[in-house]
Amino acid sequence: MNFTPTEEQLAVQKTAREFAQNEVLPKAAEIDREHRHPAELVKRMAELGFLGIAIPETYGGSGFDHVSYALAMEEISRACASTGVIMSVNNSLVCDPIYRFGTEAQKKEWLTPLASGKLLGCFALSEPEAGSDAAAQKTTAEKQSDGTWILQGTKNWITNGPVADVCVLFTMNDKAAGHKGITAFILPMKTKGVRCGTPDEKLGIRGSKSSQIFLDDVRLPADALLGEVGGGFKIAMSTLDGGRIGIAAQALGIARAALEDSLAYAQQRRTFGKAIVQHQAIAFKLADMATEIDAARLLTLRAAYLKDHKQPYGKEAAMAKLYASDVANRAAREAIQIFGGNGYVTEYPVERHFRDAKITEIYEGTSEIQRLVIAGHLAKGG
Ligand code: CAA
Repeated sequence: MNFTPTEEQLAVQKTAREFAQNEVLPKAAEIDREHRHPAELVKRMAELGFLGIAIPETYGGSGFDHVSYALAMEEISRACASTGVIMSVNNSLVCDPIYRFGTEAQKKEWLTPLASGKLLGCFALSEPEAGSDAAAQKTTAEKQSDGTWILQGTKNWITNGPVADVCVLFTMNDKAAGHKGITAFILPMKTKGVRCGTPDEKLGIRGSKSSQIFLDDVRLPADALLGEVGGGFKIAMSTLDGGRIGIAAQALGIARAALEDSLAYAQQRRTFGKAIVQHQAIAFKLADMATEIDAARLLTLRAAYLKDHKQPYGKEAAMAKLYASDVANRAAREAIQIFGGNGYVTEYPVERHFRDAKITEIYEGTSEIQRLVIAGHLAKGG
């Protein structure tokens, strides 16, 4: 077993850490307070090659691996979880499926500008009545005699929706076929009949814009199809396997923020004549946070390593997301306890970590869905 990152992975991590500390962290509180999409940071991530980290350079990406992606995601999310998820969606949920399932023409037209950050993407699977039960798609796609498709429906909670240029969209084109009736498309967001709702008012990750997407008689050409007719569910599921590595790394970043902020605070805050870090009640919390974060990181990097080595990684990605999101929530809760009254007010960053952590247990599959996925693999002997 080799736990040493390569020179290249370390270089990506260093670049991400410097960017996160110098450019992202100073703006994180304001982004959260103002519910502001950090367009200037997205532009910088494009310049740094962070919007298509694991996509080959021939398609506009940086040509690094998924371990590098996870390392960079952790650093950026440690500074600002909203900025982290914008990056994660573009990498994992948009570039990755177009790279794996797109035609050469689609890769040239869409992947190259998405991976280089000239365009930003979103992934529209969830619907008002299809969240955890992703196969219950109601958005319809009807093939016309001229080969075009007409789409109708509503998508929900679509991260990046209001700021995206392109959408990887899932529809139902044959209800009787169940999940085999689900078909994916590449949808330019400026297509006639596409409209985003008012951005969602959220508990956390307030700089990440999400909304409903309404599709009203949207006509797409035949070459907008991503993969095969009826192949959409497998595209969605396999894409989410990779997405869960990104969200595990985002959760890790939030957990690390909670730990690092708590440690710094505990070293300067004094009670009963000494720094609170010298009280075992506080020191043990920090020790538990650090231990759990290391364990979550190992799970996350293992899943990324397996993806890089073309080995099955769905179970491992689900384990990483399940555990890292749990760790992030526990660490953020303990951070507030360590800060005491100061943890409950917005002057200090830990209440933001607490609010940001929660979503990692919900999107890209709730913790309950991760357990279903893991148990499903166990039942199949995987
Ligand atoms: N890769 C490829 N194929 C897969 C797969 C995977 N990981 N998982 C399942 N499949 C295939 C199965 O092999 C099966 O195919 P066959 O019929 O040919 O055998 C088919 O898909 C159906 O599988 P299941 O019977 O297991 O499907 P299900 O309907 O019971 O659902 C589920 C399984 C795991 C619960 C799934 O619905 C799921 O993952 N739900 C959660 C959805 C989710 O994560 N949504 C997140 C939205 S995106 C988001 O959150 C983005 C954001 O904002 C940041």
